[in-house]
Amino acid sequence: MQTNTIVHVQNLSKELSNDEKTFPILHNINLSIQQGEWVSLVGPSGSGKTTLLGIMAGIDKPTNGRIFMEGQEISSMREAQLAHFRNQRIGIIFQSFFLISSLTALENVAVPLFIGKNKRQALDKAADMLAQVGLSHRLNNRPHQLSGGEQQRVAIARALVTEPAILYADEPTGNLDSVASQQLIALLKSLRQRQNLTLMVVTHDNTIAAHGDRVLHLYDGMLVNDPKAAIQPMAPNMQSDIPQAMPSQAVPVLPNQANPYAAQNQTWGKQ
Ligand SMILES: Nc1ncnc2c1ncn2[C@@H]1O[C@H](COP(=O)(O)OP(=O)(O)OP(=O)(O)O)[C@@H](O)[C@H]1O
Ligand SMILES: [Mg+2]
Repeated sequence: MQTNTIVHVQNLSKELSNDEKTFPILHNINLSIQQGEWVSLVGPSGSGKTTLLGIMAGIDKPTNGRIFMEGQEISSMREAQLAHFRNQRIGIIFQSFFLISSLTALENVAVPLFIGKNKRQALDKAADMLAQVGLSHRLNNRPHQLSGGEQQRVAIARALVTEPAILYADEPTGNLDSVASQQLIALLKSLRQRQNLTLMVVTHDNTIAAHGDRVLHLYDGMLVNDPKAAIQPMAPNMQSDIPQAMPSQAVPVLPNQANPYAAQNQTWGKQ
């Protein structure tokens, strides 16, 4: 393992079973992510992207294999230790948002901070994060009063409010229009720069994927190195040599690079 490796996945496989049958979902996945890296993960629907992300984020267990983060094996942690580790170090944006319907946008974002911070501080920090995603005017709305894109931004704010070391994002732009998507990308890039945030982003959108330092392709639960040829899965010892495909593309320069959302508030979705 290289010294600046933040996440290391070793021989990961996942099977699901019911009474009659076992379904293989992921096969012998090996990969490493470097600190500060942006890794995009693409692949057809059903190829196992969400399953892989969930296991790497410590919300699901592998059938076999080990997952290390910052040198600690999260796949062998007990639930209480893992929950604490996730809260402190890992941010997750789920494909479905999992907002709590009885709480306001502000309270939803503050939830991860209620552990360990006093309530006032938590709400202040949550309000600041919501401002960064352009939702200062929606603090006291509940999820059913928000558009899909607004709910997605609340989920993004909730994932980032704890200043995690790594952010796992599952289709984070799935409900955003193209302007809002660009703004999210700009926010992620600025956070990456300011906080040395590491990112793993699942997307169907090639222009979003191209912002990654490299793009991983998942097919039928296997990492492949040439998706067009639908070739054999990579040998485990080759996976650290995944080509640095798709160089980063330029992001439009926004008036306030440090906080792209603040200056662009009016352009976010429905206002
Ligand atoms: N709880 C479950 N029980 C049975 N099969 C499941 C379960 N969860 C996922 N699967 C199957 O596992 C495979 C991978 O699912 P996963 O959600 O990881 O795919 P995905 O690549 O994220 O797809 P999408 O792009 O549509 O979100 C799919 O074939 C799915 O049907
Ligand atoms: Mg998915």
